Amino acid sequence: MTVTERKLRIGVLGCGQISQAAHFEACRKAGNAELYAICDLAEDLVAKMGAIHEPTATYTSYDLMLADPNVEAVIVGVADQYHVAMALQALAAGKHVLVEKPLGVSIEECASLQSAVTTSSLVLQVGTMKRFDPGIAFARKFIAEDMGEMLALKAWYCDSTYRYVMTDNLQPIVVSSTAARRPAGNPKAVRERYYLLGHGSHLIDTARFLGGEIVAVRARLIQKFDAYCWFVEVAFASGAVGHLDLTIAVRMDWHEGFQIYGEHGSVIGKTYNPWYFRGSDVECFSSRDGQYHRVLGADAHFYKLQVEGFADTILSGAPMWGANVDDGTDAIRALVAIARSTKSGDWVRLDQVEGEIS
Ligand SMILES: NC(=O)c1ccc[n+]([C@@H]2O[C@H](COP(=O)([O-])OP(=O)(O)OC[C@H]3O[C@@H](n4cnc5c(N)ncnc54)[C@H](O)[C@@H]3O)[C@@H](O)[C@H]2O)c1
Repeated sequence: MTVTERKLRIGVLGCGQISQAAHFEACRKAGNAELYAICDLAEDLVAKMGAIHEPTATYTSYDLMLADPNVEAVIVGVADQYHVAMALQALAAGKHVLVEKPLGVSIEECASLQSAVTTSSLVLQVGTMKRFDPGIAFARKFIAEDMGEMLALKAWYCDSTYRYVMTDNLQPIVVSSTAARRPAGNPKAVRERYYLLGHGSHLIDTARFLGGEIVAVRARLIQKFDAYCWFVEVAFASGAVGHLDLTIAVRMDWHEGFQIYGEHGSVIGKTYNPWYFRGSDVECFSSRDGQYHRVLGADAHFYKLQVEGFADTILSGAPMWGANVDDGTDAIRALVAIARSTKSGDWVRLDQVEGEIS
């Protein structure tokens, strides 16, 4: 993080689960940002979170928060279906945006956001915070600087049936409200779509962050005994081959990680349930020096590091380490292509898909 003289004033939209568990604390702990404002349509949530986190301003109207000239940037922490509309509104009001993952729910709406970001001079970052996991960041640097050409990448993201046993102990007690605004119907009802958007977005972002652009996928989906398993063959633009495993949920501990084979070395990573705030165990073997290399990554508050990275880009012009609007859009393309491929059984090119996951 570049040392700057002042803190970015952030307004958080949404006082729901992710803001309570991550964003409020992240903004308060960040060295270069402050939790200036919070906003939710649910007045009770705003009152309770205002009492705990003591932001300078509280709002029950997004329009009013955006009209506050002191708010320089917003975190969009609302349901996936609202991300693009809320992000567009923030950009139109001249605010920088950190928008939760997935960037949106359709390729077209993400493309509209791409255009809006391009024509603005504002920063938009996507909340795939695993890029700020110090182990994954270490792997990325090793791949870029030491590993040479990539031959193959395997990555897996397997949620555990015991997930809530763990997270309920780790997260603060999350307050809910009957006045909270959620999309009509139940977005979680079609579980294939919900799992791809909610969990697959992390897996794809990690695969792209470490392996580069994905050009085509061929996927199978097996659904048995309340479990969903996607095995995805991946063609990377580099010519490397990939295999992704998204399984919700495995009857074991949280199981997430990656293996990468390269010209001058290899990488093996084990990632923990994020709410432990523990950096991935990553070993990078370099055939140049015959040594394994690893990082401790003591500070693994991904959400805080994500806010600091975002603020650093805005305040100091530092290169964006997080996912940008193109990364977010390409991730949605990959997820739509995976969904299409499970139906046809064929390879699907990412540049030939449109619409949303169906
Ligand atoms: N990065 C991660 O690891 C991670 C983890 C969990 C959730 N998420 C993402 O976070 C997002 C939010 O999830 P959540 O579980 O916190 O949702 P939630 O429904 O619990 O909370 C969202 C809140 O936003 C408010 N809201 C919605 N529209 C509003 C508007 N126009 N004006 C004011 N307030 C509004 C709602 O009233 C609600 O209180 C989702 O996109 C989800 O995918 C990310």
